[in-house]
Amino acid sequence: MILHAHLDKNKEGHLTIGGMDAVELAREFGTPAYIIDEDVIRQNCRTYLTAARKHFGADALPLYASKALSFTGVYKIVAEEGLGIDCVSGGELYTAQNAGFPAERIYFHGNNKTDADLCQALDMGVGTIVVDGDEELESLDALARARGKVQKILLRITPGIDPHTHRAIVTGNVDSKFGNAIATGQALAITQKALACKGIRLAGFHCHIGSQIFEIDPFRDAAGIMLRFIADVKGATGFEAKELNLGGGLGVRYTEDDRGIDYADAIRQIAEIVQNGAAQYGVAMPRVILEPGRSLVAAAGVTLYTVGSVKEIPGFRNYVSIDGGMPDNPRYALYQSQYTVLIADRAGAPKDYRATVAGRCCESGDLIGENMPIQKPQRGDILAVLCTGAYNYSMASNYNRIPRPPIVMVHEGKARVAVRRETYADLVRCDLIEK
Ligand code: LLP
Repeated sequence: MILHAHLDKNKEGHLTIGGMDAVELAREFGTPAYIIDEDVIRQNCRTYLTAARKHFGADALPLYASKALSFTGVYKIVAEEGLGIDCVSGGELYTAQNAGFPAERIYFHGNNKTDADLCQALDMGVGTIVVDGDEELESLDALARARGKVQKILLRITPGIDPHTHRAIVTGNVDSKFGNAIATGQALAITQKALACKGIRLAGFHCHIGSQIFEIDPFRDAAGIMLRFIADVKGATGFEAKELNLGGGLGVRYTEDDRGIDYADAIRQIAEIVQNGAAQYGVAMPRVILEPGRSLVAAAGVTLYTVGSVKEIPGFRNYVSIDGGMPDNPRYALYQSQYTVLIADRAGAPKDYRATVAGRCCESGDLIGENMPIQKPQRGDILAVLCTGAYNYSMASNYNRIPRPPIVMVHEGKARVAVRRETYADLVRCDLIEK
């Protein structure tokens, strides 16, 4: 095993992904390429669904936060596994619809949904809309009534938790573009307003405290605050929330330094916390929803690149340039995210070299990581970056007019292209002025 259970090396010393030789995959599909082990995603879905049903009850519905990795094939997998999904844009809704995802199992998020987004969601029959603020509530109410509909919603609440993670990805603080703060009274005010809307059925509340979280304590704090709020709302209005969505956020192992999380046990603990909180505040146990993104798909992904140059600057460092970079993985440039890298051709050899892995963009910050342990690389080697299933393809760009890599899914010893490689023709497809 290399970092995750589906990664290993074979007798040639090559990295294997779900039992398939990574060097062979690179030869067959070209580089850069995102390799996604479908079985890992399916297994993670099953872990969440089984634990959620066991600890939250038979009607539990974990949602896949599809911003982590969005393409038609992934929605099909998640639909087959019986989870719901979280979508945050018209584009994600469209892709889910393209996969035939059951609309009633969709939760539609977003801090600034346009009327067009809301119409799209209403017309495709999205089950739940997570309303972020007053204007959206008013628009949705009017649009639903115009269609003779009563739309189920949750209200997004900001409980004011700092989960001690990277500041740029903390979304639960009071000072946030998302949601309605309890502390300022805005959460209660919008609840009262929602209860008066004829086109809306308020089912409960949502919060999301952050991402890549390893401790249960921030969830304990958030659940406690949310349950007290549910009790306060009950006292003030008589409305008792049926649903409590605690968002996503459980972390994954990017490097050997990250400890793993037993997701089933985390769900058990969260269920216990909510049960105790409900009893403490005298409210009925709500239906608990979790919406993991990263922890369902990150470990499933490995990005394969080809090494182009190895530049050793004496007294400074070693730059290893690859045929991809920040356009396919902007996470180091954005968050200094840490990754595990290795040379797929010599996966079993000791990592006795340090590499700053650089991409091809005209930008010195175009790095995958700095001074990372790796086998000594040379031009033509296949360099693998592990744990890239989440927030890589979904955050990819065409910066420097670089086409996006394909997504190759491996499943039961077979590989198939799920998203084809972009071509230069794709890059000019929307350009209307011709030569
Ligand atoms: N629910 C809501 C409302 C969210 O905003 C998010 C993530 C999730 C669920 C899923 O969280 P997860 O389980 O994946 O942590 N681009 C950043 C991560 C941004 C997360 C945004 N919201 C990164 O690459 O680390």
